Amino acid sequence: MRKRILLLEGIHPGAKTRLEAAGFSVETEKGGFEGEKLIARANGFHAIGIRSKTKLTVEVLNKLPELEVIGCFCIGTDQVALDHANEIGLPVFNAPYSNTRSVAELMMSEMVALSRQLADRTMQMHKGVWRKSAVGSNEIRGKTVGIVGYGHIGTQVSVLAEAFGLHVLYYDIVKKLPMGNARPCESLHELLGRSDFVTLHVPDTPLTRGMMGEAELRAMKKGAYLLNASRGKVVDIPKLAELLKSHHIAGAALDVFPAEPASNDQPFVSEVQELENVILTPHVGGSTEEAQEAIGQEVSESFVRFFNSGATTGVVNFPRLDVADPREFPRIVNIHKNVPGVLSAVNSIVSEVGANIVAQNLATDSRLGYLIMDLGVADQAALNAVADKIGKLKTSIRTWVLNQSV
Ligand code: NAI
Repeated sequence: MRKRILLLEGIHPGAKTRLEAAGFSVETEKGGFEGEKLIARANGFHAIGIRSKTKLTVEVLNKLPELEVIGCFCIGTDQVALDHANEIGLPVFNAPYSNTRSVAELMMSEMVALSRQLADRTMQMHKGVWRKSAVGSNEIRGKTVGIVGYGHIGTQVSVLAEAFGLHVLYYDIVKKLPMGNARPCESLHELLGRSDFVTLHVPDTPLTRGMMGEAELRAMKKGAYLLNASRGKVVDIPKLAELLKSHHIAGAALDVFPAEPASNDQPFVSEVQELENVILTPHVGGSTEEAQEAIGQEVSESFVRFFNSGATTGVVNFPRLDVADPREFPRIVNIHKNVPGVLSAVNSIVSEVGANIVAQNLATDSRLGYLIMDLGVADQAALNAVADKIGKLKTSIRTWVLNQSV
């Protein structure tokens, strides 16, 4: 049977194209649904693709028994009851890295804009003020950028920054291989004291919350610039405002804030409003059409891989298994409760019918076990018998067969 996939909330059309090319039946909706309406619309689909508005709650998930996989065509996954999805054997995929390049490009443009006070100049021009001067305007070539968090975005910034002629320093809690001529710093304070631009690309963790507090902001070179497109709570905004007013920090570009309006209808309030040489953007670092398209491709690929091979590469709430598509042999996939004795029960069933385990992959988390097994079996009846018996084990949550023909 062809798998049926429902894509909600105007997911990029490239996703439908990709999924149809892979042989799935796809329906799309421009908007989202809630509660009973969502259940009625999604009923009978094997996969659902959502963005940030559709709430897949415990109640909704319990009423969608055909559902096998969820795709969040965005970064965040808070809109899904992740723990419950795990408990009932539903993998959830997202697209955390599709907008990496978009953020990195924005950072580069903002370094130039801060160095040339572009935000202030353009505001003045719109108000009829002509202020032609070179004072305080600089090229970024030959300056030093300090990248805090040398992950997907940090390393992209590193590459682009070198192409602009900047010297690159970075600091990460994990030892990272430098790109090009970038140099690691032993400590955050070392980086802060040596950088003309400090750009933050860390995740939101207990360690990073408040990471740029008063001491760190004061440790920045006088006249340096701060850029933050990571998470709002990383920077102490009231302290930053003080140091901008005293001109210890020469400017800032902020895309994320400790408290962000929940929708475009709500006002934005911050201590840094109206300050000189401060660029403020509404969390749009990763919001480009290219990123939307890439998100569509990334999550579609996860669906295709999952349905064709059982692979859960990049899943957020489920044991990860990165396996290739089955080729010569049929494959049994089994999601089970992670309790003692499951594997030996499965292996006894296989040996009872005289089948041979060609490949066996198991990944577990605290609740679930995820088993992918390629079998050499004599005939279809033997394969069906194995799948049926494994499916009937008390520990099994869901069992299915891929590459059926023996
Ligand atoms: P990533 O996970 O690839 O990289 C994060 C890096 O930070 C890792 O190398 C990690 O080891 C490092 N790190 C963690 N804790 C640290 C600490 N205490 N000190 C120094 N380094 C530390 O993440 P990615 O994709 O590069 O994203 C970075 C940030 O950008 C995330 O907070 C993400 O939410 C945000 N983001 C913002 C967007 C926007 O629209 N403004 C769009 C995309 C991501």
